[in-house]
Amino acid sequence: MPMAYSKSFSFLISILLFIFHNFHVSTAQKIKGGYWFPGSSFAVSDINSTLYTHLFCAFADLNASTYQVTISSSNAPQFSTFTQTVQKKNPSVKTLLSIGGGASNPSTFSAMASQAGRRKTFIDSSIQLARSNNFHGLDMDWEYPSTSTDMTNYGFLIREWRTALVNEARNSGKQILLLVGAVFYSSNYYSLNYTIQDVINAFDFVNVMAYDFYGPNWYPNFTAPPAALYALNHPAANRVSGDMGIRDWIGSGMPASKLVLGVPFYGYAWRLLNSNNRGLFDRANGSAFGGDGSMGYSQIREFVSQNRAACTFNSTVVSDYCSSGTTWIGYDDVQSVSAKVAYAKTNNLGGHFVWHVGADYNWVLSQAASRTWG
Ligand SMILES: *[C@@H]1O[C@H](CO)[C@@H](O)[C@H](O)[C@H]1NC(C)=O
Ligand SMILES: *[C@@H]1O[C@H](CO)[C@@H](O)[C@H](O)[C@H]1NC(C)=O
Ligand SMILES: *[C@@H]1O[C@H](CO)[C@@H](O)[C@H](O)[C@H]1NC(C)=O
Ligand SMILES: *[C@@H]1O[C@H](CO)[C@@H](O)[C@H](O)[C@H]1NC(C)=O
Ligand SMILES: *[C@@H]1O[C@H](CO)[C@@H](O)[C@H](O)[C@H]1NC(C)=O
Ligand SMILES: *[C@@H]1O[C@H](CO)[C@@H](O)[C@H](O)[C@H]1NC(C)=O
Repeated sequence: MPMAYSKSFSFLISILLFIFHNFHVSTAQKIKGGYWFPGSSFAVSDINSTLYTHLFCAFADLNASTYQVTISSSNAPQFSTFTQTVQKKNPSVKTLLSIGGGASNPSTFSAMASQAGRRKTFIDSSIQLARSNNFHGLDMDWEYPSTSTDMTNYGFLIREWRTALVNEARNSGKQILLLVGAVFYSSNYYSLNYTIQDVINAFDFVNVMAYDFYGPNWYPNFTAPPAALYALNHPAANRVSGDMGIRDWIGSGMPASKLVLGVPFYGYAWRLLNSNNRGLFDRANGSAFGGDGSMGYSQIREFVSQNRAACTFNSTVVSDYCSSGTTWIGYDDVQSVSAKVAYAKTNNLGGHFVWHVGADYNWVLSQAASRTWG
């Protein structure tokens, strides 16, 4: 083959590869994830699953004496029919069984992960439960491994889990189950690091919980953006943000394509101290309505229309807030959700996920997210 020909031929190939690679990257299916849980009192059959690629059914429990994963008898009817129900509107949506959650006891996870036999019991029972309830995958929501021993054991656990999934798929001839981790907003948990190589190898992707940075029960004295994408250089601010967390994950070696950005479909309501000062980081005195002050997006919409509340989008931090009288609510509305998905798109993240689908109002946030992905 003449030299000139071979050179231009390989040049052509590299151009084609370049085009293919970029085409491939830009058209790879983005993850549009959403959690559902029974306590939301939102019927599974009402989920508009056409707006999602992955739906997470939350939560399965970890038994503190046997270390088996179980589905409580009260949840069993809805969990066992979850997949067939959401696939009616979207036959290609994938479903995952989420294990744990913020209300489960992290020390039970610690104890489970600390011994090889317990890990095996946990892993085997999780696979059995996923298969017998027709889920496409499992989601580990241990909030959070919080000692260096926990982090090491978490690494062992997810490594062994991946191996077990590979073996089970080979033996059953079924498509391998997905494995997802719901993780801290940053790869660095109060100066402890996740063992990144294990996280990369074991999980198909991770759900980055980029919210709950502020709330009236832990920041009672001033209003704040609960799930800011960017931090504000303000004396009252804690400098935490979704962008900071994503940059930590990428800096630690995590591929951007495996990071799925969390977006809350809820906010928090503070009680203003002085109703003339109703911006971000203005003075407050705890939760507006008692409890932790959390409100779902549809409740917030109701509050806004009933009280003709004034609403503002702050693009510096990427948060919406609205207020009426002495009630002030920080949350994500259409503009914040769209800006966060645009951020995920620009930074080539794997997708976004929401907590929780039942809090949407006429699917406007879900549709804004879907539209932004294009
Ligand atoms: C579900 O979402 C799709 C896509 O945005 C929309 O066309 C449809 O009207 C929605 N269904 C309901 C019941 O809101
Ligand atoms: C855990 O498992 C044990 C043994 O099967 C059972 O007796 C116990 O009720 C379970 N605990 C919960 C909270 O389900
Ligand atoms: C909020 O303000 C009160 C009274 O000024 C103070 O005692 C308390 O420590 C403050 N709380 C926080 C979390 O800063
Ligand atoms: C955690 O990771 C960060 C960034 O990769 C690194 O700078 C830091 O030293 C690590 N901390 C520990 C305790 O290993
Ligand atoms: C804040 O609320 C508490 C009661 O919840 C009250 O005792 C306190 O005086 C209030 N602080 C201010 C500055 O109004
Ligand atoms: C967002 O709020 C901060 C704090 O009040 C303010 O400094 C900033 O200018 C606001 N950004 C926009 C775009 O209004």
